[in-house]
Amino acid sequence: MLVRNGHVATMAAGGEAYGAVRDGAVAVRDGRIVWVGPEADLPRELDDGPVLDARGGWVTPGLIDCHTHLVFGGDRAGEFERRLQGATYEEIARAGGGIVSTVRATRSAGDEELLERGRARLELLAWRGVTTAEIKSGYGLDVDTELRMLRVARALGPATGVRVQTTLLGAHALPPEFAEDRNGYLGVVCEEMIPAAAAAGLADAVDAFCEEIAFTPAECDRVFDAASAHELPVRLHADQLTDQGGAALAARHGARSADHLEHTSEEGVRAMAAAGTVAVLLPGAAHFLRDPTVPPVDALRSHGVPMAVATDLNPGSSPLLDPVLALSLACLLFRLTPEEALGGMTRVAARVLGLEDEIGTLEVGKRADMAVWDVAHPAELAYWMGGAPCRSVIRDGTALSAR
Ligand code: NIG
Ligand code: FE
Repeated sequence: MLVRNGHVATMAAGGEAYGAVRDGAVAVRDGRIVWVGPEADLPRELDDGPVLDARGGWVTPGLIDCHTHLVFGGDRAGEFERRLQGATYEEIARAGGGIVSTVRATRSAGDEELLERGRARLELLAWRGVTTAEIKSGYGLDVDTELRMLRVARALGPATGVRVQTTLLGAHALPPEFAEDRNGYLGVVCEEMIPAAAAAGLADAVDAFCEEIAFTPAECDRVFDAASAHELPVRLHADQLTDQGGAALAARHGARSADHLEHTSEEGVRAMAAAGTVAVLLPGAAHFLRDPTVPPVDALRSHGVPMAVATDLNPGSSPLLDPVLALSLACLLFRLTPEEALGGMTRVAARVLGLEDEIGTLEVGKRADMAVWDVAHPAELAYWMGGAPCRSVIRDGTALSAR
């Protein structure tokens, strides 16, 4: 396949803004990129085979949504109404709503229902340029339902054509049946869920929610030690609602990422920089929870911590079905530049998933995951408030719609 007649935002680091190649072309063989450059320089032997005409638009790497909870039962529109009348997210959670209400709905949903609803959500992301998505469990909170969620998430890959990575989030909330026995539940997570998910090859990583309404830093330490014992990489929901020292905790464990970070201190940022832990910014959650506190973006930038951007698609804190709107919110709420935001949903997101050698930029040797946009400049991806016109989505050199 040859993509021609447009401009290419390779998103490769260093060099031109957006790694831009005006009047560029991308040549693909066997699902991988074999050549990128100005179309005028295209080697003759690559000028054959099927052509995808970019019609003057921009070609970017396929978007990578590296933080979602898109498999779940039910919805929380009722809680949204209560929050608008003044109740807080934490109050609702402490009163037995919040994550636990989605756990009830997920436990009672059948596999088929979880798959069909998950498929509808993931297809919406794919139509907006997403070629890779991470999907977390965390609404089962018992061994069977957590594994069931991971199996459904895995099945969504072949069902949609999107490349899917799964993350076990057993330590998302305390399930009601363990309300008086935190230690007992952590035993289930560490001694049953993590080993079972690892043995079945169902999880690519382990995540935990470190927060007053969820798990303490010491409890998250325990979860991460269990994950490391099974050689699973770790990530953390860190400092979203209060400063728990989550960023430093993630760094201490060599986590791939610390996510949210609204309340992270500069000390936490320094620890992340030293450990190479990536920041995953989730402006959909900050916006939907109407939290005026923003992550320490200046400090992340000045300490050289790479920033990824994701939808956090979930029923409670970020029912955000448009990755392009996440880019816009990252700029408007967190003051990322459009280039940082797009880099955060391509190059940096690939690193969060450990796939930086395979995807995330349009460079020779990488998989041919691309999106073609009807825009005159790549900044338009963050400029339109959702709905930037995505014309084609290609994974491994094949149009997603053609799968
Ligand atoms: O990323 N912070 C914890 N987990 C989700 C919210 C889950 C929920 O409210 O259902 C998040 O915001
Ligand atoms: Fe999340």
